[in-house]
Amino acid sequence: MCGIVGYIGSQQAQPILLDGLKRLEYRGYDSAGIAVLDGGAISVRKCAGRIDKLRQMTDASPLRGTIGIGHTRWATHGEPTDLNAHPHTDVKGDIAIVHNGIIENHAALRRHLEKQGCVFVSQTDTEVAAHLIHTLYKGDMMKALQEAIRMLSGSYALAVLCENEPDVLYCVRLGSPLVVGVGQGEMFLASDIPAILPHTRDVVILEDREIAVLRRDSVDIFDDLGNRKTPAALHVSWDAAAAEKGGYAHFMLKEIFEQPDAVANTLTAYVGVDGFKEMLPGLPSRVDFIACGTAYHSGMAGAYYFAELAQTEAAAHIASEYRYKTLFPHPGQEVVAISQSGETADTLAALRKAQEMGADTAALTNTLGSTLERTVGKSLLTYAGPEIAVASTKAYITQVETLLLMAVDLGLRKGALSQERADELLNGLSALPEKMSRVLENQTYLQQYCDRHLHEKLMFFIGRGMDASLAMEAALKLKEISYLPCEAYAAGELKHGAIALISEGTPVIALCTRENLLEKTLSNLRETKARGAETICVCPERFAQQARREADIVWTVPDTDEMLLPLLVMLPMQLLAYHMAVAQGRDVDKPRNLAKSVTVE
Ligand code: G6P
Repeated sequence: MCGIVGYIGSQQAQPILLDGLKRLEYRGYDSAGIAVLDGGAISVRKCAGRIDKLRQMTDASPLRGTIGIGHTRWATHGEPTDLNAHPHTDVKGDIAIVHNGIIENHAALRRHLEKQGCVFVSQTDTEVAAHLIHTLYKGDMMKALQEAIRMLSGSYALAVLCENEPDVLYCVRLGSPLVVGVGQGEMFLASDIPAILPHTRDVVILEDREIAVLRRDSVDIFDDLGNRKTPAALHVSWDAAAAEKGGYAHFMLKEIFEQPDAVANTLTAYVGVDGFKEMLPGLPSRVDFIACGTAYHSGMAGAYYFAELAQTEAAAHIASEYRYKTLFPHPGQEVVAISQSGETADTLAALRKAQEMGADTAALTNTLGSTLERTVGKSLLTYAGPEIAVASTKAYITQVETLLLMAVDLGLRKGALSQERADELLNGLSALPEKMSRVLENQTYLQQYCDRHLHEKLMFFIGRGMDASLAMEAALKLKEISYLPCEAYAAGELKHGAIALISEGTPVIALCTRENLLEKTLSNLRETKARGAETICVCPERFAQQARREADIVWTVPDTDEMLLPLLVMLPMQLLAYHMAVAQGRDVDKPRNLAKSVTVE
């Protein structure tokens, strides 16, 4: 959602804060601000708009000081205006805070504080927290924050500057991530690791209800009762370059091109010379995946893998639905939460519900140390490296790959899959990165297609079985970054309603990875062509001849095992979305209304 940064040390804080915000801009980008404390006084610069606008402001009127906080916002309470931008202060400006998350009891607290004489200038829930902490502050910020934790409900990550305590930076979290970067004579704070990577790779990840007290030379962690805890520092392997564009026009394009390496790294992480490292423990009788957005689509693909390779009943659920559903526990059931960030609020809540129900839980995430990773007994990582573009690409591909590996591992242990078939799949996977690179080498045909179809009003993606899940992901990619309305349909379902939307020239893209379903899907394509559609078939080379008899256009990928084809056919779909967004002049990495990580319900 929003991004938080903080700094305390001997360098000027402003450039470090602005640089950190720039790295976090993908988390939210409708307004931004910083507060710096110097000579016993806090000064704030903030505005609606992107970090570059804030930078113009601070260039014109810089803030001096070696301790400060900053924020980039994705509006939830109150529109993105100058006044609603963070940091927020109390009436006198004695303290300044930045906040991620949602304070659910903000309205009641606001009424209570107004009665005490607090005057509010913004519509945000954050300003309520600023006034509250100021009211509770009686010369000891630790005590004020402990008290605030008891009074605030909802989710938050807060960083606090206090004029009376000019050498300390405070922060606290509940349900929204915060990490402290440990430097030499300086400390960094951020809501996400990439913001601090240029400075340090030693981080302390805060737990819920922990208060961190940052001084130049120390970081002290306390629980909400004031008991000191021992900070456990973690060394992250990502380096700063991994979170930079490295010559690509956009993070999304860079991340698309990183996929062959991401697949190779994920494979080596789980499959050594003597077989699988532990994946899912035990032999679950049923597996439920819970996730949001793109991760939900990978869960759908995972459900097919589990059924087909491990003969295990499996289903994917939208986390925001699952959390409010009547559930029936199954003996031996495993619930696996899938999330790139490991911080998505709905996914975490759905996971807690599964845990309350008594299910065994596991996580599949790209983020070591994330809340999700630390909430479950068994966590599996994807080795995609930091994903910055809002539209997920390499995280999705490595999720699908890991789910395939989990299914193969379970299938082998259950006796549902022969060693010979497992070896075929693993050998196919080893050869896949090279085939992926071949698909990525040639994008001209997609660029040309997008230039020609720039003004399209509607596009369809169809497929059957596993391919229906791929169609949904392909449509989501295109919607997210080009804003082109798209429909994704199980191919056989089209004629039961949505086919009414097809008119002369409407593009219909069929994803075909399964031989036994090819003829069926092609005949659905034929139905749309009869209604004027321009039909495209995306398939392996071995289906091309048959596909050309039906489709106007055929886009092929190299042949490989049909179980691995999803990892190949998704690449031209990602590039299609990318080039369409570029052709339309969209902001590819930061599409409107979206945020990379949604830490509110
Ligand atoms: C947001 C992003 C999506 C992402 C979803 C789930 O909506 O815009 O791209 O798929 O969150 O994120 P997660 O980090 O849980 O995978």
